[in-house]
Order: sequence, then C-alpha cells, then structure tokens
Amino acid sequence: MKKQGLQLDRVVLLGRTCDEYTRYFGLEMEQWRGKKILDVASGVGSFRAEAAALGHDVTAADRIYDISPEELAPRCAADLDHIIDSVRDLNVYRWDNFYGTPERLRGLRERAYKTFLQDYREQRERYVRVELPRLPFRDGEFDLTLLSYLLFVYENQLSYDFHLQSIRELMRVTRGEARIYPTVTFEAEPSKYLAKLGEDLIEFSVEVINTDFEFLRNSNNFLRITRC
Ligand SMILES: C[S@@+](CC[C@H](N)C(=O)[O-])C[C@H]1O[C@@H](n2cnc3c(N)ncnc32)[C@H](O)[C@@H]1O
Repeated sequence: MKKQGLQLDRVVLLGRTCDEYTRYFGLEMEQWRGKKILDVASGVGSFRAEAAALGHDVTAADRIYDISPEELAPRCAADLDHIIDSVRDLNVYRWDNFYGTPERLRGLRERAYKTFLQDYREQRERYVRVELPRLPFRDGEFDLTLLSYLLFVYENQLSYDFHLQSIRELMRVTRGEARIYPTVTFEAEPSKYLAKLGEDLIEFSVEVINTDFEFLRNSNNFLRITRC
C-alpha cells in the first residue's frame, strides 16, 4: 500500500508540548540548565512556556510573532480541527507509540497552543519575529538551538537552498549544537535533501541520532549538528 501523508499547501499553526520536544529531541533538560536555548519556528508550541516555568532560559523565534494573540487564537483552533480530521485515517502515523487516539492528540495540541497564548501575552519580549533563512541574533548567542516541524517535513514547499541556508544560519547563532526534527517528510519518507546536506555542510558534523519516539512513521530520529 502506498504511504499516504498529510497534504498541506501551507505551513500550519500546530504546536507541540515540552514533553513531546524532550522525547523527540532526546533532550535531558537538566543538561541545559543555565544555558541559552533558542527554539526556531516555535509557532504556537508550548516548549518555551513550559521550559521557562521550570527555570530554563528559552527564546522563541517565528515569523508569526508580529501577530496579536487575539488574532492567533482562532487560527490555532481552525488549524487543529483541520489536522485532527486529516490524520485520523492516514496510514503514516503510529498511534500505539505515544498518543493512543486522535482525541488525546487533540487534547495535547490544544493544551500546547493555550499555554503558548498565555505565555505570549505575558512574556512577549521572549518571542522574536524572524524570517528564516535569516535570524536577528549574534554569532554564537545560544548554546542549543531547536527546530521542529518546518525543515524536511515541508520539503515539497521549501527548496534545498532554503534548507541549506537555514541550517547554516541556525549554526551561526549557536555556540553548542542544533537539533532538527523530524528528518522525514509527511509521507514518512526520509528527506531527499539529507544526503546532499551532509556533503555540503562540510564545516559541521551532521549526525542522525535515534530515539524511541515515533508518531509519524520513521521519525524516530533527529538531526544533530555540531562544529567539527
Ligand atoms: C508546524 S509549526 C511548528 C511549531 C513548533 N516548532 C512545533 O513543532 O510545535 C511551523 C512553524 O514554522 C513557522 N515558519 C514557517 N516559515 C518560517 C520562516 N521562513 N521563518 C520562521 N518561521 C517560519 C510557522 O509560522 C509555524 O509557526
């Protein structure tokens, strides 16, 4: 049977929780205490809000952060309805590994965007408007940079050059390491850009690190990029 993935004609406003981030990025949060963390394309996810509540120093960066919380709220709700209706019958998702049911998935996504909206209202200065492939941060400003659910999954909409330039820019502002998740497309196929990126990013060490978290099939790994 051919794998059938989500058909999206634009990048959606869907947010994940801190728990999901730590699982799919293989993060030991205590290791990053006292360090500066950047979450790029952080969208309406609650990683910043939840990690900050635990005392971590997290900056969120996304191109939507010039939009008011009042305008974002209905868009989060509409995108969530659309995605939950769409993923129910697709064969590229594993429900047994973590989420169980579409209803539980909806609950987590709803909690994520509501937690985000509250933090976004209260800590607006920690949410920076950016437009990849450029970032308005100093060289080496962050110890750890994360990016989830923008590169690779949307490879049918985002060019190879966009990927290459974005990863170089993530690494420019990072003194430690960058992690990118997932490394597959919405069809659960390994991104066709991966091999060439490995060849072109010769100034960095690019490794695929396995985890035990898998919802989108074959997404039980993340890309870890460090300086050679
Ligand atoms: C599917 S959401 C992922 C949110 C979060 N990282 C997560 O996994 O829950 C993708 C995000 O990428 C953002 N985005 C798309 N293109 C971008 C660009 N060129 N620069 C910065 N952010 C971008 C969108 O605004 C959206 O919030």
